Amino acid sequence: MSHYLPLSRVARLVGEPRSEIQRRIRAGELATFDGQIELDELLRVFPNVKWQDDGEYEHVEEIKRKAFGKRVMERALPDKEVLAERLYELGREFAAAKSLLIHYDRVFGWLDDRLLGFAEDDPESADALMAIRIWLRRQLDEAPGEAERAKALLAEESVMRVMSVHVEVRPSGHEFFVEGNDTILEAALRAGISLNYGCSNGNCGDCKVRLVSGQVKKVHPHDYVLKEADKAAGAILMCSYTPITDVVIEASVSGADDIPEQTIVTRVKEVEFVDDDLVALHLTTPRSQRLRFLAGQRVTLNAAGLAGEYAIASCPCEDRHIELHIRRDNRPFSRMAFEDLRKEVPVTLNGPRGSFVIKMDSRRPALFVAWDDGFAPIKSLIQHAMSLEVAETMDLFWVSDALPHYQDNLCRSWADALDNFHYRALTAVDGIEANVETILAGHPNLTHFDLYAAGPAAFLDRLKLAAVERGLSPLGWHGEIVL
Ligand code: FES
Repeated sequence: MSHYLPLSRVARLVGEPRSEIQRRIRAGELATFDGQIELDELLRVFPNVKWQDDGEYEHVEEIKRKAFGKRVMERALPDKEVLAERLYELGREFAAAKSLLIHYDRVFGWLDDRLLGFAEDDPESADALMAIRIWLRRQLDEAPGEAERAKALLAEESVMRVMSVHVEVRPSGHEFFVEGNDTILEAALRAGISLNYGCSNGNCGDCKVRLVSGQVKKVHPHDYVLKEADKAAGAILMCSYTPITDVVIEASVSGADDIPEQTIVTRVKEVEFVDDDLVALHLTTPRSQRLRFLAGQRVTLNAAGLAGEYAIASCPCEDRHIELHIRRDNRPFSRMAFEDLRKEVPVTLNGPRGSFVIKMDSRRPALFVAWDDGFAPIKSLIQHAMSLEVAETMDLFWVSDALPHYQDNLCRSWADALDNFHYRALTAVDGIEANVETILAGHPNLTHFDLYAAGPAAFLDRLKLAAVERGLSPLGWHGEIVL
């Protein structure tokens, strides 16, 4: 009996990023079948991994948790009804495996008897038949190679499947885990995957998707009435259901053009003076609302009759928290942010706008370049890319007047935590030309890269020209002018 595991679960079991597992698959080091990895293949490719020792994984997750303030790997138990159903399903699986083993044992006994009977009836073949019987018995009595490691792996995986259930989204291929008492929708949003939804509470039907395989349980009632034809086709509402087993759903992932304009009255959670000329404004949306946006998009802020448009610096995976970086300048909203904005002041937020977003279907290495507070949308993109694990490697270059750069420690913590993330702080005093040279010096060939850059137009123009000369495809360029 073969046992297959999805890539995301393999990444968790071996304590490596999903992008590293994908790299091994592309390099032909790890074989897959239908997008999954077989148990024996896993044991072969990772001979030294101790399954219970997920210290490395926990380390990375801890950094992510600190960096994002995000509940990434909270091993919270689901509620008792969901837990009971997951355990019941696991029990059914073990019962099926056990009855199959009992059946195999009977078949073996029958085969053994038949061989013995043939040997007695045919003395000429008796020696050969007896040798086969002995060989078969020895094979059955011998513990299979790697038995202990296989047992440990299966035990760890079984616990994981009770604590966190895997969801695959088709046709996009996105994957995420549902932990604790989350619905499928809540878990998708925490993972930064932009699935379609509206009210979040079972009224509008916008979160309707098709359940392709697996089992789910309704954990929140919904007023929206699913038609009989919908139910027959496997329709469920993501905001009402949680998975009991690993599931596959059919749903479309929203692009920048699919997200409706929203107006939300938020409250100031904190006005953080990161240096003399920049504040990080932290807003909280109402309990029942969260802003739908993609990392890298902008919103208009309005408070006390003064408005300003700014890039969001936080990740869409961060629940109700929105962070924006406001530079000190002559814009009315900027002046108010430095002088009058206080905790709990209402700020109306309208948007999102813009198409400077992560290429969800790309697994290519990503080069992120920020000039000054162009770091805001870049920060949002990087956190989203980390959450989705879309890029094979990530390099961040940040050019700024002020040294050290604000939130420099955050960038360094990313670099410390993730093997595939590199960070370099550069100084604006060196000018555009020298900085472009420095940024691209380590990348003579950008043919297979995605380059995301945010800063003044003159810098972006020069960077794009130099990057294209190094083979960057026009489709690999993503620029956002920051005034
Ligand atoms: S989001 Fe409205 S019903 Fe689910």
